[in-house]
Amino acid sequence: MDFGHGILSEAEIKAGLGTLIFGRKIYSLTSVESTNALALKMAEEGTEEGTLVVAEEQTRGRGRMGRQWHSPPGVGIWSSLILRPRLLSHQAPCLTLMAGLAVARAIRSSTGLPAALRWPNDVLIGGRKACGILTEMGTRQGQVEYCVVGLGLNVNQSQTHFPPSLRLEATSIRTELGREVSRIEILQRILTEFERLYLRQQKEGFSPILEESKRLSTVLGKWVSVRQGLHVYHGKAVDIDHEGALMLESEQGRHRIFAGDVSLIEGDVNHVAGHRCR
Ligand code: BTN
Repeated sequence: MDFGHGILSEAEIKAGLGTLIFGRKIYSLTSVESTNALALKMAEEGTEEGTLVVAEEQTRGRGRMGRQWHSPPGVGIWSSLILRPRLLSHQAPCLTLMAGLAVARAIRSSTGLPAALRWPNDVLIGGRKACGILTEMGTRQGQVEYCVVGLGLNVNQSQTHFPPSLRLEATSIRTELGREVSRIEILQRILTEFERLYLRQQKEGFSPILEESKRLSTVLGKWVSVRQGLHVYHGKAVDIDHEGALMLESEQGRHRIFAGDVSLIEGDVNHVAGHRCR
């Protein structure tokens, strides 16, 4: 089996990792049903903040809205980070935005690819999805008690690795760059960027992070449809507010949307920052 530039072992991830909290403890597994499910269980049992669960393969990777996440061995980063932020539960969506921004920054700085963000939780390259984020948490009296930020990043897949149903909408760093990259290096950068943003949020709040996320957004200023269960909103995406909600203007008025699947109605999703940006 080709694990492309080394397996995601604890020792290799830790070597040269300059973070204080994120990745302090690492559980590196060959195969697991879902790193999020395991990390949630560990968080419930009191595992400390910054613990990372990572697997070569997930057999029941979880996506948003009950979907499956395709997680074959050796080609992606399937990982979950346990956090214990001092946040009210309604502020938690901002953590998802923060994680997306960390992934986009890491991809940009390590490959020069113009990674961009599709609200609420996707990282796109060239208009196709390279990474999804699933944040799950435990709360007590309106406060976040623990939070698991799961991220699935397609790194070294060729397009034929994806099931046919995903081939048009999914991509990987390898597809976009034309060569394989080190998963270890990308994961280290993600942890570094994520921790930087996390510590900054504790001092300065979410505003600077939101501003940067908005600059990388493929959605803002565009006409979109947002599917939320059976309901579909159509309108112009005009803002992402201080709680991470998407503000949509339609003929019916202004909507504040907390979750959903966004598609562009017109315009070009690819070129939000369509230049290489090393
Ligand atoms: C999405 O639907 O876009 C979110 C996908 C999140 C997938 C990741 S892979 C690691 C972690 N463990 C899971 O079971 N899911 C998340």
